[in-house]
Amino acid sequence: MENKVRVALIGCGRVAGVHAQALKRLEETELKAVVDIVEEKAKFFSEAYDVKDWYTDYHKVLERDDIDAIEICLPHYLHAEVAIKAMKSGKHVLTEKPMAITLEDADRMIATADECKVKLGVIFQNRYNDASVAVKKAITSGQLGEIKGARMMLTWHRPDSYYKESDWKGTWDKEGGGVLIDQAIHTIDLMQWLIGTEIDYIRATYDTRAHSYIDVDDVAEAYIKFKPDIVGCVYANCFYPYDAPVFLEIYGTKGIAHIIGDKATIYLGNTTVQVEQSSNPGSGLRYWGSSHERQIKDFYRDVLLGRTPFIDGRAGRVALAMVLAMYESSRTGKPVKFPY
Ligand SMILES: NC(=O)c1ccc[n+]([C@@H]2O[C@H](COP(=O)([O-])OP(=O)(O)OC[C@H]3O[C@@H](n4cnc5c(N)ncnc54)[C@H](O)[C@@H]3O)[C@@H](O)[C@H]2O)c1
Repeated sequence: MENKVRVALIGCGRVAGVHAQALKRLEETELKAVVDIVEEKAKFFSEAYDVKDWYTDYHKVLERDDIDAIEICLPHYLHAEVAIKAMKSGKHVLTEKPMAITLEDADRMIATADECKVKLGVIFQNRYNDASVAVKKAITSGQLGEIKGARMMLTWHRPDSYYKESDWKGTWDKEGGGVLIDQAIHTIDLMQWLIGTEIDYIRATYDTRAHSYIDVDDVAEAYIKFKPDIVGCVYANCFYPYDAPVFLEIYGTKGIAHIIGDKATIYLGNTTVQVEQSSNPGSGLRYWGSSHERQIKDFYRDVLLGRTPFIDGRAGRVALAMVLAMYESSRTGKPVKFPY
C-alpha cells in the first residue's frame, strides 16, 4: 500500500455522496472506482466525482490488485455478503450502519476480518460530533458523578413515499426492521458508548401505527438496564411531522448532559457548558449529523498505521445486538438478557 488507501465505493444511492466527497477530499484516500447495480447511478458518480472506473458488478473491484479498501453504502441485507467477500479478497472494509441484519452475519464479519488480517469499520459518525466527544469527556472525567440514567428521543418523518420508492426500505428481510434498526440505531449507539458499561437486559415494544405500506416498526419504546444500576429509556418514531433534532440525556449524581441534534449542554451545579459542532464539511442531510468525514479519515489513518479502528466490527456489533434484542423482546414479551 502506498501512503494513500485506494478505495472503491459500492452503492451510489442517497448517502453515498457524503462518502465520495470525503474520499476525494481526504489526503489519506484515493477514490479509484464506484459501483452501483444501476448503470446510470454508477456513471453519474463517476462523472460527478471524477472517478475514471465505474462498474455495475461489485466483484470487479474485488478482483483488482490496485484497490485496498471497499466502502459499503448498500441496502442493509447486502452488507455482510459484500463485506465478507471483500475481506476474503484482502480488502479492508468500511461499512455503513447497521453492519448486518443478524448477529450471525455480524459475527461472521468480525471473524473474517480477524482471519484475513484486514480492518473492518462500521459507520456511527455521531460519536465523532464535538457534542458527543465533550459529553464522553464529562462522563469519563467524573464531572457528571456516578451515572444514573439516560433518555433518548428520535422523532423523524418518513412518509409512505420513502418506503414506496425503495425496493428494500420498510422490509424485514432487506432492511432488517424499521425505525429502530435504521434511524434510532445511531442514538442507541451513542447512549451505550457514552454510558460505557455492560448491558444487563433490554425490554421493548414496537408497533406499526402510522404507515399502511410497511410492516416493520414505525414506533418503539425500550428500557435498557445497564450495569451496575443505570436505566436507559428509548422512544423512537418515524411518523413525526418533521425531522426533529434527536434528544439524548445522560444524568449522574453531579450533573446532566443534554445532546440536542449536534449541540451539547452540560449542566454542572451553577455552571453550564455548551458545545457546538466546530466544522461541517459534509454534504449530507442536517439530521444525519456531519461527522462522516471525521470517521472516514480516522478509519483510513488506522488502516495506514495498522491500528484497530475506533469503531471496528466488535464496537459496531453492540448497537446492532441492542436493536435486535428490542425486536425479540417485543415479540416474546420478555426481557432479553445480555450478553446477546
Ligand atoms: N450514517 C448515516 O447517517 C446514514 C444516512 C443514510 C443512509 N445510511 C446507510 O447507508 C446505506 C445505504 O442507504 P441509502 O439511503 O444510501 O440507500 P439507497 O437505496 O439510496 O442506496 C443503495 C444503493 O445501492 C445500490 N445497489 C443495490 N444492490 C446493489 C448491488 N448488488 N451492487 C451494487 N449496488 C447495489 C442501489 O442501486 C442504490 O443506489 C444503508 O446502510 C443506510 O442505513 C446511513
